[in-house]
Amino acid sequence: MRVLGIETSCDETGVAVYDDQQGLMADLLYSQTHLHAEYGGVVPELASRDHIRKTLPMIDEALAQSHSGRADIDAIAYTAGPGLVGALLVGASIAKSLAFAWQIPAIGVHHMEGHLLAPMLGKERPDYPFLALLVSGGHTQLMHCQGLGQYELLGESLDDAAGEAFDKVAKMLGLAYPGGPAIEALARLGQADRFRFPRPMTDRPGLDFSFSGLKTFTMNTLKNIAAPSDQDKADIALAFQTAVTDTIRIKCRRAAEQTGLNQMVIAGGVSANQALRQTLQLMTRETGCQVFYPALKLCTDNGAMIAYAGLQHLLKGYGESLEIVVRPRWPMTELG
Ligand code: KG4
Ligand code: ZN
Repeated sequence: MRVLGIETSCDETGVAVYDDQQGLMADLLYSQTHLHAEYGGVVPELASRDHIRKTLPMIDEALAQSHSGRADIDAIAYTAGPGLVGALLVGASIAKSLAFAWQIPAIGVHHMEGHLLAPMLGKERPDYPFLALLVSGGHTQLMHCQGLGQYELLGESLDDAAGEAFDKVAKMLGLAYPGGPAIEALARLGQADRFRFPRPMTDRPGLDFSFSGLKTFTMNTLKNIAAPSDQDKADIALAFQTAVTDTIRIKCRRAAEQTGLNQMVIAGGVSANQALRQTLQLMTRETGCQVFYPALKLCTDNGAMIAYAGLQHLLKGYGESLEIVVRPRWPMTELG
């Protein structure tokens, strides 16, 4: 079975071909970051227009790279939500039109389920049931994953997502969007013992997160320095990153202890952060819970995870009508 995957939920166009026998046969990614950089965030209309320009040529290229003709493709998977509605509609319309022309099923994939399954594209994979921490620009969620499409929400951010907090703090520090990689790079130059930032909501029970107060704390620390030097900014970046990663470690440890599960997936853009990966080694030592990550290039948005997730649903017999429906807001617990 071979699936063409299309990801257009935000500011990356991803197109991939995944085959259940041969694995990932093509994986193309085009990032629009430069287009949005001067606005300090994603401009939805610009994103949609760029997806329109890029998606079809990238599909041609992915088919060529994987030596696939139309007849070799068994289904087309696309991101149906959550995300920017215009951007989602571009991918959905293209996927449904091609599926109609090629007489094959189209499969709408939940973007966060794509992230969640991305580690399955690697050699080391967890077995159900396992825990998952999804940390992206729009979501911070702890899930109990019982099987494909069977996800129970254990906790989530009550305000900003972890990636969003990275992006906003980066903006404060005068760094370019997306902020996560920029903060990670700057934090490498920081002195660890200069500041200690709070670990929000770790002193009360539960598995929810809140990063908005930490963002304000960061801003106030910056404001209290008359003319912040590069070193001041690096120290602040490190203190912020350490507070986020340590908060995540505490919540992951709690989730592992509460559920008794001993495998955990960490996925979504923020899972690319090396400081987070190091901090979570400590959680593994504390609880014995083994952690699985996607390959670095599959942490952020990509078509491969959508093709892979689509294939899993295809194997379960999933197909849908030709009606074009996207869901900009879509709780993952409604899958299954
Ligand atoms: O999963 P993703 O590509 O898109 C969404 O589904 O949101 O995640 C993007 C988010 C951005 O907020 C970005 O700043 C963050 O992931 N991110 C990182 C790193 N790389 C990307 N955050 C921290 N450290 C990184 N290395
Ligand atoms: Zn994403």
